[in-house]
Amino acid sequence: MPKDRIVAGIDIGSHKICTIISQVSENKISVIGVSSTPSKGIKKGVVVDIDQAVAAISQSLEASERMAGYAVTSAFIGVDGSHISSLNSKGVVAVSSSDGEISEEDVARATEAAQAISIPTSQEIIHVIPRDFIVDSQEGVKNPVGMSGIRLEVETNIIYGSATSLRNLTKCVAQVGVDVSDLVFSGIAASQSVLTDTEKELGTVLVDVGAGTTKICIFEGGSPYYSSVLPIGGQNITNDLAIGLRTSIETAEKAKIKLSQMSREENGEEITIPGLGADGATESVSRKNLEEIVRVRLSEIFSLVGAEVKKSGLLGKVAGGLVLTGGGSETRGAAEVARSVLKMPVRLGAPTGVTGLIDEIVGPAYSGSVGLVIYGSKAQPVSSFGFLGRGGLASPFSRALGWFKSFLP
Ligand SMILES: Nc1ncnc2c1ncn2[C@@H]1O[C@H](COP(=O)(O)OP(=O)(O)OP(=O)(O)O)[C@@H](O)[C@H]1O
Ligand SMILES: [Mg+2]
Repeated sequence: MPKDRIVAGIDIGSHKICTIISQVSENKISVIGVSSTPSKGIKKGVVVDIDQAVAAISQSLEASERMAGYAVTSAFIGVDGSHISSLNSKGVVAVSSSDGEISEEDVARATEAAQAISIPTSQEIIHVIPRDFIVDSQEGVKNPVGMSGIRLEVETNIIYGSATSLRNLTKCVAQVGVDVSDLVFSGIAASQSVLTDTEKELGTVLVDVGAGTTKICIFEGGSPYYSSVLPIGGQNITNDLAIGLRTSIETAEKAKIKLSQMSREENGEEITIPGLGADGATESVSRKNLEEIVRVRLSEIFSLVGAEVKKSGLLGKVAGGLVLTGGGSETRGAAEVARSVLKMPVRLGAPTGVTGLIDEIVGPAYSGSVGLVIYGSKAQPVSSFGFLGRGGLASPFSRALGWFKSFLP
């Protein structure tokens, strides 16, 4: 890893846009600039209004640049939205060198061969992640470079999404004058800051409940195995409360946050909500009623998560349980409902792995944002491979290499 380079990440969420600028040295990622601003022009994780999104991204970017005293030229960008899915695919090649020693180039060819699968033309690959290698008949090889063999096989997890959505996101970032270092699926980003190596190895379901979407990224054997995005999140809970309380979205949001922040001592039967009454007066409502409304929506979210775990084929195989993160994970009763619906151990996850100016980004809402700079700190500069794809974006081929290299000792 080169010494002291700057790595920036822009997490473009449905609720907030968070830019983090970090200084990466050999063993530390230090945050030197950060800014989270309300999101605009983004719905359920995708761009719905380019001008509004550009204005919001620019606001977050400029504030973080001012704090860092550094102008961002390129950044890792989070990708969200229910258009994202994944599949597992194998690639096989013959080892090219005459002495049978496996080279990086063989790994790259095998990884490319794994991409020869039928993904609809409307979709574009976001990640090609080598999970495991098989050298001749030896399974479970993590790094085949330098080993001897005749046949090299790679098992990959491929994460892909709508080409149109990816293009619109890239367009917004280009309009604020920033190059896309790489697009990173938000679930993969969050996993970087929240999951432990043991959890990744044992098999764990990472669930990032955002405002507009819920990201699911299931790890098995140390790497991602299944990814999916549900078009439902914390915003739906707020909407339900607004309908239930016959009030505005703003007041319902306040009620939701107050409910989740009530300490045990405050656990009375009633909860007072400013703005709920006529003419903006404070009014009390039954806490039980609020909790019931919230619980119904949480149950729905976790039932859908359960269906995805089943679809992945890993039900009963995720010994690490479920790790819940994202702003929505702070909803009152979230972990409890997840436990009872999914019947697996559940822990709440907040971002770790960075130092410096982190006061603003310690909460679970920032797992994906922090994860972007961690991901970026491991990625290899694409230019060293000489593979640049469309619009200055790294091709999945070189990105897979970057990922693979990040796991090399
Ligand atoms: N203390 C809290 N209690 C309950 N809900 C909360 C709390 N804090 C934040 N939220 C909810 O979390 C959601 C925002 O989460 P987050 O910041 O992770 O979303 P995002 O990344 O902007 O959106 P997305 O990931 O869906 O694109 C909002 O719906 C907000 O109401
Ligand atoms: Mg998010």
